[in-house]
Amino acid sequence: MGSLLLTGDLHGNTTHAVDLLRVAQREDCAKMFVLGDFGAWEHTPAGKRYFDVVDRVARKKQVRVYFLDGNHDKSSLLYERYGDALDDEGFLICRKNIRYAPRGHRWTWAGTRFAAFGGAYSVDKAWRLAAEAVREQKAERRRQFGSGRRPATAGTLWFPEEQMTDAECDALLAADPAPVDVLLTHDKPRAADPAWNRKNLPECLPNQDRIQRAVEALRPRLLLHGHLHFRYTDQIGDTRVEGLGADPDASHPHDYESSDSWLVLPLPFPPEAAAEREIA
Ligand SMILES: [Fe+2]
Ligand SMILES: [Fe+2]
Repeated sequence: MGSLLLTGDLHGNTTHAVDLLRVAQREDCAKMFVLGDFGAWEHTPAGKRYFDVVDRVARKKQVRVYFLDGNHDKSSLLYERYGDALDDEGFLICRKNIRYAPRGHRWTWAGTRFAAFGGAYSVDKAWRLAAEAVREQKAERRRQFGSGRRPATAGTLWFPEEQMTDAECDALLAADPAPVDVLLTHDKPRAADPAWNRKNLPECLPNQDRIQRAVEALRPRLLLHGHLHFRYTDQIGDTRVEGLGADPDASHPHDYESSDSWLVLPLPFPPEAAAEREIA
């Protein structure tokens, strides 16, 4: 394959998703990989429509969209709906051209070994839980005074599965400790040091530590992540870290440009290592 388009968080922004599919086509990328906060919200009608539209455009442009889960993706529902629909590389088939990489998933494209580790802590967790509580009060009132319909409210804005647990992380690394070339995550590894970061509360650190453990175990040459909504490059040991920006609506830095939210990775990566492996 030629190149892979990596993108930061989309948050269900259809316009931005379509723009990025255009970029994928222009840059000759048959695959686009979204680094979490894709907008997996199929518990809502708008979330279903988003998947349908992205799938339709992706088919038209002959681009296949892959994603790992961010803290704002309802990954429990992905397992529930698509856990038995695996493609031959082990991705969950959500639509013909939309595939989900579960936590710890490994695969190889063009001689390049990849792993995906989704999840992160939501700094707006309290706000999300409060909004769910308000919805619950309204639903309860409706139940008492009328229709009898009572929509679910818990798990609609904040998802309890948002972070990896320590046990989950350790089990995934123990199950397959083989190194990878490229590690894709939603959260940043603890040691990476972006110039701008509003997600550094003490509650954010345990998951960053888990990603750091994955880096130390899998020794990738390159790690790409989203979540911070900020484009930066750093180097931690032998690993180059690329943090990607988000869709324009979720981007706070004043100098944001749409191109901060994507990166083209020519494959194989790194070219010399993949060639050596093929000879061996
Ligand atoms: Fe995000
Ligand atoms: Fe996030």
